[in-house]
Amino acid sequence: MKALVLSGGRGTRLRPITYTGAKQLVPVANKPILWYGIEAIVKTGITDIGIIISPETGHQVREKTGDGSRFGARITYILQESPDGLAHAVKVARPFLADSPFIMYLGDNLIADDLQEYLDEFKSRNLDALILLRKVSNPRAFGVAKLDENGRVLELVEKPQNPPSNLALVGIYFFSPAIHEVIEKLKPSARGELEITDAIQALIERGKSVEARQLKNWWLDTGKKDDLLEANRIILDTTLPPGEKPDLVENSQIIGRVKIGKNTSVINSTIRGPVIIGDNCRIENCFIGPYSSIADGVTLVDVDIEHSVVLENAEVKGIQQRIVDSVIGQRAKIYFQPKRPRALSFMVGDDSIIELA
Ligand code: G1P
Repeated sequence: MKALVLSGGRGTRLRPITYTGAKQLVPVANKPILWYGIEAIVKTGITDIGIIISPETGHQVREKTGDGSRFGARITYILQESPDGLAHAVKVARPFLADSPFIMYLGDNLIADDLQEYLDEFKSRNLDALILLRKVSNPRAFGVAKLDENGRVLELVEKPQNPPSNLALVGIYFFSPAIHEVIEKLKPSARGELEITDAIQALIERGKSVEARQLKNWWLDTGKKDDLLEANRIILDTTLPPGEKPDLVENSQIIGRVKIGKNTSVINSTIRGPVIIGDNCRIENCFIGPYSSIADGVTLVDVDIEHSVVLENAEVKGIQQRIVDSVIGQRAKIYFQPKRPRALSFMVGDDSIIELA
């Protein structure tokens, strides 16, 4: 059994953050989203992992994630020259996959369920495809499954105008090598991509054994800001260990589950967990409220922030109002300029969103 993790794509829904970085490397609780998937796969005992990368962000994914030794796995990077669809990615990965069954995992998906149970079912029932489903309120944004009364898969449609149900396809699939035959014959969809949803539909039409299971716990597709903040909240809530007393804390209150990295100084501040703060940060005269993840090298001075994600080396100083529900990109700078107290001065990247209240 092998695994294919998809870490290409343009990340258009997370712009401007994804102009300079892969969406799969955006951190959730200070760890790249992609790594959660890799860890879940390795936990099932699968260590031969192919990662699909794009020409634009592939080098970052490779540099950050490495050869797999940090996960106890062997990673092979596979370049998909253009974003021509999920089934196209499988086609490109054929030499790596050979005739092995495999898990396909979209690198921006996070689930709470263990993969093991589904993997065991896929194997013991000798299936050609096992798909995972989850009820959603906006099925038009996903691949959608129609089941019969016994839960058998009748039909799958990608981003339907009139969804046949509210059961979305989660971006985690189990396949036998039969998937390659149908992908060979697949035609591009209306959006010009080879859709994995169409490939699974073709398996159904050929009478192959395709089954579905509904997830028992949460699923997040972190491609958008609100989903990213929600993933951050859930991961901080469920995985952060009890707080530990850091060294470089002066005149501050640290309450609840708070993890603070090496060489980070906290002065005259209150931090109320769950909060994670990386290495080499400077936190001075701040309130950092629940569900905040502050990456390495961040400077926060005179700031009140909660339910937010701040990426590496960002600097925020002297902001009078509370910052909430925010994602602040790498090296971004937000300052209060005391010499011009009533003026606002911006250097804002394309697709940025600033809400002043
Ligand atoms: C892809 C799949 C879709 C699935 C979704 C899950 O959509 O095409 O069927 O429901 O992932 O994350 P995309 O994120 O490429 O729009």
